[in-house]
Amino acid sequence: MQNLDELINCRSEQGRKTVEPCSIIIFGASGDLTSRKLVPALYQLFREGQMPAAFRVVGFARREKTDASWRVELRQALDQFSRTKPVEEPAWQAFAANLSYCQGDLTDAAAYQRLAQMLGSFSGGALQRNLLCYLATLPSQFGAIVEQLHQAGLLHKDSPDGWQRVVVEKPFGHDLDSARRLNQELIRFAHERQVFRIDHYLGKETVQNIMMFRFSNAIFERLWNREAIDHVQITVSEQLGVGQRGGYYEEAGALRDMVQNHLLQVMSLVAMEPPVTLEAESIRDEKVKLLKSIRPLRPEDAGKQVVRGQYRSGTIAGAPAPAYRQEPKVNPDSTVETYAALKLFVDNWRWSSVPFYLRTGKRLPLSTSEVRVQFRPTPSVLFAAQCNGGLAPNALTLRLQPNEGISLRFNGKVPGLSLGARPVRMHFGYDAEFGAYTPEAYERLLLDAVAGDATLFIRHDEVETAWGIADSIRHVWEGKPLSDGEFYAAGTWGPVAADELLAQSGHAWRNPQPIK
Ligand code: BG6
Repeated sequence: MQNLDELINCRSEQGRKTVEPCSIIIFGASGDLTSRKLVPALYQLFREGQMPAAFRVVGFARREKTDASWRVELRQALDQFSRTKPVEEPAWQAFAANLSYCQGDLTDAAAYQRLAQMLGSFSGGALQRNLLCYLATLPSQFGAIVEQLHQAGLLHKDSPDGWQRVVVEKPFGHDLDSARRLNQELIRFAHERQVFRIDHYLGKETVQNIMMFRFSNAIFERLWNREAIDHVQITVSEQLGVGQRGGYYEEAGALRDMVQNHLLQVMSLVAMEPPVTLEAESIRDEKVKLLKSIRPLRPEDAGKQVVRGQYRSGTIAGAPAPAYRQEPKVNPDSTVETYAALKLFVDNWRWSSVPFYLRTGKRLPLSTSEVRVQFRPTPSVLFAAQCNGGLAPNALTLRLQPNEGISLRFNGKVPGLSLGARPVRMHFGYDAEFGAYTPEAYERLLLDAVAGDATLFIRHDEVETAWGIADSIRHVWEGKPLSDGEFYAAGTWGPVAADELLAQSGHAWRNPQPIK
């Protein structure tokens, strides 16, 4: 008989990915993403013995650097960004021996020839043929990069031997038309199955657990529908403001930055039908079906279903915070939303008339992501009738981050002679159950891209359908100045109109609580 620890270990061994030797080329390697996320993630995978037996990582960027100076830079960044500290020097040295730098302009054909020569100099054919091209660049550069890669013989649609994959970062377009154009550019030189679009929320353990939780627990699975569920709230709140990203954020706003991707992805996992198999295509088919079932927003309903907001100055955790309009690179009259709340309906058999409330914002009181599923109340007789204001409905909260875990709220009798009831909770915490091991999203995503598993990446039709939804909301806001009621003080839970959005249906936001 195996004990629980053995079972957990045995499962994680079984889940080990098969990875072939390959070269990972990071385009835009001087950027933040490489030193904060990508290289720390690759280092962790290496430490844990999950990287292929042979691999190389090539940084491609315009700045003049040598292999040695790039390694020094990355080593310094690792001190700050590594998930495990201190950095283990022998592991780093062994890892760093696989890092090379190729200087070049993204549009210069000669630079790609130098890259091809560099790859050709790596011993072992697989390092020359199996290529993971990570485009950590502006989306406007994707088309030119894949074209140049193709011209240099480094990207083929049907490679006679070896494989080539292209990983792209968000923002994947800024509306439906631009997303379509980007997709067209990419599939000129690569099949859709070679394109891996990242949404880092899908790399989070707790987000992956949504599907596992739903489809492996009979007690919840049979309640997961309109018969039992009253409404669903998805909250992704952040304490941080836009910081140094004002330039980008002025073009994006909360709708493009968070709703179109992370929130709709989480919603599709919460609401989709069970996939036929665990194959990437089956899961992605179900997510697309769900997104397509979201009721299109009619302009006349928009006022009742979407709310935007922008932070004014305020106080967060006792410290003063400036207004969005005072942030660097932000237009002092900007109408860009730093907060968005939506009420969506899914017009399918399972969810008919169940509201899904989604909200996200910067400069809110806490940084948390959670999904709250609120169940229908019991009939108002017996105990409910005895409690002033009725009994609290049952609720299940999936805490995606931080304090990762799940809580179930139900009613219990208050000890004593009266028949008073009050809500009590059952908690599951990842830390307590599995220890503090929580891999960074990029570790999982990079490993999957190397292994060729596309399950946690977004297919072109998912991106496009999600843009269709975001566009319909944007059209409502575009060109309209912000009214007074659309501002909120930094450190509060958003504009008052967001409370009214729920109050219309007798609902109220459940604001995440600080960890005690
Ligand atoms: C990014 C957004 O995609 O997600 C950022 O561009 C946001 O604006 C970030 O801060 C949030 O991610 P996480 O993992 O910190 O919740």
